[in-house]
Amino acid sequence: MAATSALNGVSPASSQKTQDFNGVTVVLGAQWGDEGKGKIVDLLATSADVVCRCQGGNNAGHTVVVGDTAYDFHLLPSGIIHKESISVLGNGVVIHLPGLFDEIQKNEAKGLTGWQQRLLISSQAHLVFDFHQQVDGLQESLRGKQLIGTTKKGIGPTYSSKATRNGIRVIDLVHDFDVFAEKYKNLASYFMKRYPDLAIDIEKDLKTYKDYSNTIRPMVVDTVTFMHKQLQDKSKRILIEGANATMLDIDFGTYPMVTSSNCSVGSVCTGLGVPPRHLKEIYGVVKAYLTRVGSGCFPTEAEPAIDLELRTRGAEFGVTTGRPRRCGWLDMVMLRYANMVNGFTGIAITKLDILDTFTEVKIGVAYKKNGVLLEEFPSSQEAFQGIEVEYLTLPGWQSPTDHCRKFSELPSNAQAYVRTIEKLLSVPVKWIGVGKDRSSVIQLD
Ligand code: GTP
Repeated sequence: MAATSALNGVSPASSQKTQDFNGVTVVLGAQWGDEGKGKIVDLLATSADVVCRCQGGNNAGHTVVVGDTAYDFHLLPSGIIHKESISVLGNGVVIHLPGLFDEIQKNEAKGLTGWQQRLLISSQAHLVFDFHQQVDGLQESLRGKQLIGTTKKGIGPTYSSKATRNGIRVIDLVHDFDVFAEKYKNLASYFMKRYPDLAIDIEKDLKTYKDYSNTIRPMVVDTVTFMHKQLQDKSKRILIEGANATMLDIDFGTYPMVTSSNCSVGSVCTGLGVPPRHLKEIYGVVKAYLTRVGSGCFPTEAEPAIDLELRTRGAEFGVTTGRPRRCGWLDMVMLRYANMVNGFTGIAITKLDILDTFTEVKIGVAYKKNGVLLEEFPSSQEAFQGIEVEYLTLPGWQSPTDHCRKFSELPSNAQAYVRTIEKLLSVPVKWIGVGKDRSSVIQLD
């Protein structure tokens, strides 16, 4: 019997041909977050049929500026503003429902409509409860000097519940409310035993969650099957927006000052059920300089005057917390490492315009310790101590770039800066951001 007939006419070889697959486009932060992923996602989302989140919770913050309106997204995929596309919260996302509905309400006030028909929530996603958020704060207060700088959104404690296997998932909420109530009571009492200061009003919470269960039920689906169907249809354009960033990844980031999820490319597979062979374009978003929130290593951190100028010009304050960000020069050692982890097929350089006033711009190109060049990216906070950075210094352009829409319109020193990054990283630059607005982008061939 021929192999094909044994498989009801399906040739085993045909399922291996890459051209038969639909490929997804992934946008990931390449640094410590706040790279301006929102604008690049928005740009790609205008032509996407499906826009997905695969990890993190409402601890991230994308800003999408459309005309005079600035939409802030923390949990919703930024694709939600596009009427033609479906937005998906995958199984790897952790969802605080009060936060989600608060975010929806705020964006409704700015003109968001029809989201009910466009939002899908994975039945396997874990729920963040208020007590997870309280525990986040309590854990941080017990850390002494080793503060992580958590946003206190309950993300870490929720991923802990998931790993401890007493977490509660969306399916629990929408399936049988009595079972959910039982699980909720167990989880709440587990945390109350560990943290006697916790204030949890279980009966009140259950009433609230009863309402949520009815509201979200129509949006809850098995996103693995949904994604599989989209991947079978070659006409579908699928975009996956990473939240947080590679250097905040729980495995590959600057541990322990990281977030509690994987925010590099692997999260697309584990947080949505997308098989690796479907990864087609993996775009890294790289801010033209570097910022970091909270404590932790920062080899290319700038001297106070430069730090202040970058922060002031770049409005480097957290969307979620309002915290001022530390600022410094682009770190190529870190970017090369991020590229090793993610395998970028292209990068977007954002906020180039913020460097418009500088007489010179620097790129950290190598790390040295005791005069010896480091071959590998340091893998612990302690290993960063005593690091010296070797810089490449380039002349600044000292003229505005925000009006530029073609690469050739950029001042020649700005062009040289971009081309130097491209050469040092060996990844093509696809976009250059020169302003806040969605139109302030230069697209390269
Ligand atoms: P996280 O998900 O929290 O890491 O943030 P993010 O990477 O999504 O950053 P976000 O999209 O919030 O962008 C940060 C800020 O930079 C927002 O206020 C954007 O409007 C702004 N921004 C994005 N691109 C550019 C740019 O090219 N130039 C300028 N001046 N501002 C930009």
